[in-house]
Amino acid sequence: MHFKRQSYPAIPAADITPEALFRSRRQFLRGAGALGGTILLGACGLGSPPAPPAPTPGVVAQLTDELGDPATAYAAVIGYNNYYEFTTTKEDVAAAAANFPTSPWEVQVGGLVRNPQTFAVEDLLSRFDQEERIYRLRCVEGWSMVIPWIGFPLAALLKEVEPLAEAQYVRFETIYAPDVMPGQQSRWYNWPYVEGLRLDEAMNDLTLMSTGLYGNQLLPQNGAPLRLVVPWKYGFKSIKAIVKIDLVETAPLSLWMAAAPNEYGFYANVNPDVPHPRWSQASERRIGELDRRPTLPFNGYAEQVAGMYAGMDLRVFF
Ligand code: MTE
Repeated sequence: MHFKRQSYPAIPAADITPEALFRSRRQFLRGAGALGGTILLGACGLGSPPAPPAPTPGVVAQLTDELGDPATAYAAVIGYNNYYEFTTTKEDVAAAAANFPTSPWEVQVGGLVRNPQTFAVEDLLSRFDQEERIYRLRCVEGWSMVIPWIGFPLAALLKEVEPLAEAQYVRFETIYAPDVMPGQQSRWYNWPYVEGLRLDEAMNDLTLMSTGLYGNQLLPQNGAPLRLVVPWKYGFKSIKAIVKIDLVETAPLSLWMAAAPNEYGFYANVNPDVPHPRWSQASERRIGELDRRPTLPFNGYAEQVAGMYAGMDLRVFF
């Protein structure tokens, strides 16, 4: 097994990886230039994605989150997506994004930093150990999944650019490419997609820059080649296809805050006690399950993150 498995929050010891999934992971690691027994990924290439693993029955049951819940079927993770740059119909995103060019790709990291840098995705893969983290993803629309992401802590990237003392927030921007992202031609939204985190949230160990999932590099519909994953916040904070990261002094205005300020706040922490105007947040539908299940505060990560909000009224800072 060539992955460094997530240790925070603690995950029960990984089960024996089924052969099909193991092979697909090896393929990903080889494609990305894995070295020896580590997950250090070299610069030799994000070419075309390897064939996805066959959604073998039983395979997904082998991967669980730290609460013991199984990973969502691969077919759902890559087939039921929110990505408004392509289409608002979740089942159509994969086809609409299929030809989106994700290589070459660079991300500029700058703003209030001592050492601004532009990284090719290959640099990120070789510079930072890639690890697998099995996280719950909770959409504000009331559905959720469990996804085995691959990536590296955002904190590692931010440390490289050396944030200045004035930097209080991090602003993320998706690529603007209306020619190949037809949704960006719509005037309903303030393109490009923008999201933000407070600096301490960005530095939290749970906050991941994701480059892959289910052992493969990311597919376009999941935000290839680089997206954010913030598991204790509603899914819309987990911005896809990032080209720019800036350290800034004040809270950035996100696309959703600009579109509907009464519906979407800056924090967007998963909170069963604060309903969205159109959706109760008390319960959720886990994709693949029939019954709804109660929503957990901070999506089940309260132990790791609640301290960052001590003393804040989370109804006001929603
Ligand atoms: N990022 C961009 N650039 N555009 C989007 O429309 N949708 C968000 C988030 N990131 C979105 C985005 C929403 S609402 C969710 S729930 C998640 O992506 C879905 O991620 P997934 O499709 O990989 O499950």
